[in-house]
Amino acid sequence: MRIGMLTGGGDCPGLNAVIRAAVRKGEDVYGHIFVGFRYGWRGVMEYETMNLTRAETRGILPRGGTILGSSRTNPYKSDDGAARVLETLHRERIDALIAIGGEDTLGVANKLGADWPHIVGVPKTIDNDLSATDFTFGFNTSVQIATDAIDRLHTTAESHDRVMVVEVMGRHAGWIATYAGIAGGADVILVPEEPFDISEVCANIQKRHQRGANFSIVVVAEGAVPVEGTMTLQAGEVDDFGHVRLGGIGSQLASEIETRTGYETRETVLGHVLRGGTPSAFDRVLATRFGVEAIDAVNEGDFGKMVALRGPDIIRVPLEEAVSELKTVDPKLFDTAAVFFG
Ligand code: F6P
Repeated sequence: MRIGMLTGGGDCPGLNAVIRAAVRKGEDVYGHIFVGFRYGWRGVMEYETMNLTRAETRGILPRGGTILGSSRTNPYKSDDGAARVLETLHRERIDALIAIGGEDTLGVANKLGADWPHIVGVPKTIDNDLSATDFTFGFNTSVQIATDAIDRLHTTAESHDRVMVVEVMGRHAGWIATYAGIAGGADVILVPEEPFDISEVCANIQKRHQRGANFSIVVVAEGAVPVEGTMTLQAGEVDDFGHVRLGGIGSQLASEIETRTGYETRETVLGHVLRGGTPSAFDRVLATRFGVEAIDAVNEGDFGKMVALRGPDIIRVPLEEAVSELKTVDPKLFDTAAVFFG
């Protein structure tokens, strides 16, 4: 078979491990040939390909990013986008496509499935917000990076009697904020799932300081939203999938906290640092298992599926089901985090 592979959306640690695993088993065990499409769906639309053999994928297991490149191109945004995708697949004589991505990239895969059903999806995103899988690879690494940063901010916050606001990624779901907040001992965690009231945030910090603490750590997901009418957030640009570019809530929050409480407050935006660098051991293993399962699914002709982690097992779920709903933070987990607020 000639198998296409692409990585779309925001990159994350572990993408190269999936590519390596699929190519290794596909070539060695099944004798398939791979074609890499550059920059996600853009490469299929614009016919940008690269060789993807065992040689090209050697040594990439611990490497962050993606050797294929990535973009947020949505073929369905332009009138002839889907037709150009189909033309490239035909021209390259592609028998099957492995699409590695999050809600947007896999959403396109699902839509394309109506015209060209030979697709298998692999879930990736540091945000961990895909509902059909317990975890996406990249999440574990980003939580560790955020936790390390919070630990470092703790010591400097303590030295200077400051409030530290740490902004982490998390567009629709606050998984990174919640996990890293619990692991790093945050005093306040703000997530998109639970609109926050700035007066309550400040009251919590003041209560803590009245009890003798001289510093506080606030972890905020970039997609956190204030209760309507309590604080106005700046709006950013919109991408091909209609998502606003986020980043900036940390700074607004820090200035509100300082003004309202009188405590000196600083912000740190971790942003893309959370997506960079080498994947954790957990993510390398998960990505490798996903890559192997994806090529097995292709080999068996089990298309229209996404590989997923369920408990200890790697399973396959219908792509349609996988992209139908986002996985938001479990309220019980957030309640656990909230025990330590204030
Ligand atoms: O989707 C993953 C993510 O990391 C989001 O948390 C974030 O909002 C977005 O990507 C930012 O991506 P970029 O700046 O690359 O467009």
